[in-house]
Amino acid sequence: MAFIKNAWYVACWDAQVKPGEMFHRTLLDQQVVFYRKQNGEPVALQDRCPHRFIPLHLGTIRGDAIECGYHGLQFDCSGKCVKNPHGDGKIPAAAKVRSYPVHEKHGMLWIWMGDEIANPDQIPDYRVLEPNSGYRTSTGGYIHINANYELMAENLLDLSHITYLHDGLLGSPEQVGADQVVKEEGTHILCNRWMPNVGVPGIFDMLYKRDGKHVDMWTNMRWIPPSSFILDSGVHVPGGEREDKGWYYGVHILTPETERTTHYHFAAALPSGTVMSEDEATQYAELRRFAFEEQDKPMLDAQQSALGDSNFWDMKPVLLSVDAGPVRMRRALERMLEEEQRSVEAKSGKKEQVTSV
Ligand code: FES
Ligand SMILES: [Fe+2]
Repeated sequence: MAFIKNAWYVACWDAQVKPGEMFHRTLLDQQVVFYRKQNGEPVALQDRCPHRFIPLHLGTIRGDAIECGYHGLQFDCSGKCVKNPHGDGKIPAAAKVRSYPVHEKHGMLWIWMGDEIANPDQIPDYRVLEPNSGYRTSTGGYIHINANYELMAENLLDLSHITYLHDGLLGSPEQVGADQVVKEEGTHILCNRWMPNVGVPGIFDMLYKRDGKHVDMWTNMRWIPPSSFILDSGVHVPGGEREDKGWYYGVHILTPETERTTHYHFAAALPSGTVMSEDEATQYAELRRFAFEEQDKPMLDAQQSALGDSNFWDMKPVLLSVDAGPVRMRRALERMLEEEQRSVEAKSGKKEQVTSV
């Protein structure tokens, strides 16, 4: 399976790339090393020396360049070899590594791995995570998922599972009857659930101080292709109105690592009226981590291992009403991938024509 490449993906939280240190990760099946130039700007290079294929992260940062730890070739931040310490010092034409556009935004380091021109204006809007946004934030969440990112994306877009998998924590039994309304806004898909007069799930009881009494609850999830999400979820008294507390924005962002593994970054932003002690804030973050890491992850890992290498549609999955959003999302991803592949083929066709003329 191929990945959509012409898109911004989160490589890591920006604090993970520390001055003077290298950070490496596999993204879209490619090994990438990150470091910072002396002026602090982040750099992303292919993490494989073209000489004997040693990962460059085993080397040393020299100024704004990286020196391979095996025989000392040096590569600058554009991926060009700038020093060959051997023989006459001549630099072979093939001595270069790929460099990737990166951009720091909303506390995350975003990477562009496609061939089209990277435009940072296309990075999804997560300004609610900015320190001056007026929201109380909980950031830095990361989980490694042993499943394809599309399986994880379905988990996020269709939140009907909270009644079962996160019962008592993020969901409650009465929610199962909720209507799921699926809408499209441009390229975004929204999956909105409205759940009137339901038991208050633990995490919302903590935010809204409802002492276990019933609430009206909503979960409105927005998918921003190919793999970014923002959830608006909360509660208020039955028949009441949204207040400046009792809800939050959940940020969920997926980056394919390999066909069968995914980097999952998550964060939250709470409105200013949220009354929470430091202990409660820690507990809130911990409850979310628990839900994602100890409830969602085992389910996803088991799902991928049950699917093995089979194609999802070839397995003929049973479709339920709650699958409307995920199916639209899968179809949209298929279309994006086809378009991207057509444009790559068209470009390579043009190149061949030019070569043969
Ligand atoms: S493997 Fe990098 S210089 Fe030889
Ligand atoms: Fe979940």
